[in-house]
Amino acid sequence: MCGIIGYCGPKPAAELLVEGLRRLEYRGYDSAGICVRTGGKLVVHKKKGKIKDLRDHVPEGLDGETGIGHTRWATHGEVNDTNAHPHLDVTGRVAIVHNGIIENFDALREKLEDDGYVFVSETDSEVIVHLIASLYDGDLERAVKQAVMLLKGTYGIVAMHQDEPGKLVGARNGSPLVLGIGDHEMFLASDVTAIIAHTKQVIYIEDGEVVSVTADNYQTSDLKNRAVDKKVEFISWELEEIEKEGYAHYMEKEIIEQPDSILRAMQGRLDHEYATGHLGGLNMSRQELLSVERVKIIAAGTSYYAGMVGAYVLESVARIPATAELASELRYRNPIVEPNTVYFAVSQSGETADTLYAMRELQRKGARVLGICNVVGSTIPRESDGGVYIHSGPEIAVASTKAFTSQITAFYLFALMMARMRHLGIEAGARMIEQIESLPRLVEEVLRRKETLIPIARKYAHADDVLFLGRGINYPVALEGALKLKEISYIHAEGYSAAEIKHGPIALINEVTPSVFLIPDDGLRDKVLSNLKEVKARKGRVIALAVDGDDEVGRIADDVFWVPKASELLYPYLMVIPLQLFAYYVALELGRNVDQPRNLAKSVTVE
Ligand code: M6R
Repeated sequence: MCGIIGYCGPKPAAELLVEGLRRLEYRGYDSAGICVRTGGKLVVHKKKGKIKDLRDHVPEGLDGETGIGHTRWATHGEVNDTNAHPHLDVTGRVAIVHNGIIENFDALREKLEDDGYVFVSETDSEVIVHLIASLYDGDLERAVKQAVMLLKGTYGIVAMHQDEPGKLVGARNGSPLVLGIGDHEMFLASDVTAIIAHTKQVIYIEDGEVVSVTADNYQTSDLKNRAVDKKVEFISWELEEIEKEGYAHYMEKEIIEQPDSILRAMQGRLDHEYATGHLGGLNMSRQELLSVERVKIIAAGTSYYAGMVGAYVLESVARIPATAELASELRYRNPIVEPNTVYFAVSQSGETADTLYAMRELQRKGARVLGICNVVGSTIPRESDGGVYIHSGPEIAVASTKAFTSQITAFYLFALMMARMRHLGIEAGARMIEQIESLPRLVEEVLRRKETLIPIARKYAHADDVLFLGRGINYPVALEGALKLKEISYIHAEGYSAAEIKHGPIALINEVTPSVFLIPDDGLRDKVLSNLKEVKARKGRVIALAVDGDDEVGRIADDVFWVPKASELLYPYLMVIPLQLFAYYVALELGRNVDQPRNLAKSVTVE
């Protein structure tokens, strides 16, 4: 979604802002702009399109030591130069950038227009700049505080005023804002990737807080002007991790990284002596863990499918009833919070609005919500009652890949721990540890075979529809395979339980529609194979993901990607990686923008 960067310091701001915006590109956007104070005036340059269009538009050598920049993902008003941020007030003395949605903007706009303020854009954000201008009496921080108190909705804002050189004011409610502390320079940004090249010392601004920044100083306070003491935190990510390092796309890099990212998710969390999992951040005593009778998982998109796999593992390994639900649905159905239930909010970014708001609703009702997140310091882990960081490293491609395999790893560890506290003996625990530890090697083996997928992807790249079919623990993997394909190739794809196709989807089968069957070597293998035969009997084209040595599948399917033999619970890993690669190769064949597919954003911070 939208991205923000602000800079106070001695360096030429324009160049630094544009570079920061480039690092925010992965979030998804449709226009971008900057404002710098130069020659005593605020100068704005903004453009529909990509950062390179903005770069071409900004005059070379543009001077200016303070500035703000923004990448916009349109919500109110079409994609054009005028609706792009930063927005200026009518006098050109105040500029703002805004992430989020102002719900009462109609009423505010009407009032401001009655008072003579002229709006030039169709955005909800523009009300903020006019409000600040109307309330300004020589103190930007005070005007920002008074303005945001009139707003309903979500915001991460950075404002600057022509008459207060070298100063930025940021405010947050529901949209992330982070302060970066440099050497005689300060940054404000919507996420750390924009500033990691300059500093690793950060302060996360919370809802209801305002931060006032100059090159050498910062002050944080709440809306009632009470000073708020903040902890300076250290970002552990390296700059190289957010670079492509020779790969054509971030998505490819992130798929290939999975042996390492899975290893990081489990490192230090397997206790060989007691053959159990060890998750230090849950903030739950042994007694509390023992009293858990039910697990409920909330998430969106890929994280939701990881949650479905997690629920399956928890039930089968720990014998604890577990379900996964879309956070967006849970929030509005007045969920019943029962005692002895623990909730997990799963989110790569830790900022997904649907998941965050559902988590808050559950917490208001007294639930204990644990996070399974990747981005350290993001909102969900900070507001949750404990949880697990998956340590995948930055995931830049919009299509989530390595986060999925690490999220499910977190569930495997939790399931092992819960099982060992209940019925699972030490030997069975040790066997499960062995299986979990074999994952990086097995995943490497799958990746070694990746080239064999390229001709298959090319063969089917021009299909109009693709079905993905799996069962049991691999049913959510089929859903994830369909999501990956549709979001980056724009081919219509649906995932189903293979058992369900006879209840309707089989009507779609014809000589041209391919079905991707997930056929692990597990208790459901024969059932899935029967479903595959039903499709073949109707002249459907079949791509199978099958286990080495399954000759029967080899004879029936049109094309096969072979995965190594493994224990049943590990197949989601070995099946999802070829599906990620399949989507990637199809998208490449079709010439799609793999890392930044149309209409999508990396972190969906609006409802
Ligand atoms: O950051 P999150 O894991 O909370 O994001 C949830 C979804 O928005 C995300 O998984 C989305 O579906 C991806 N584009 C999938 O590739």
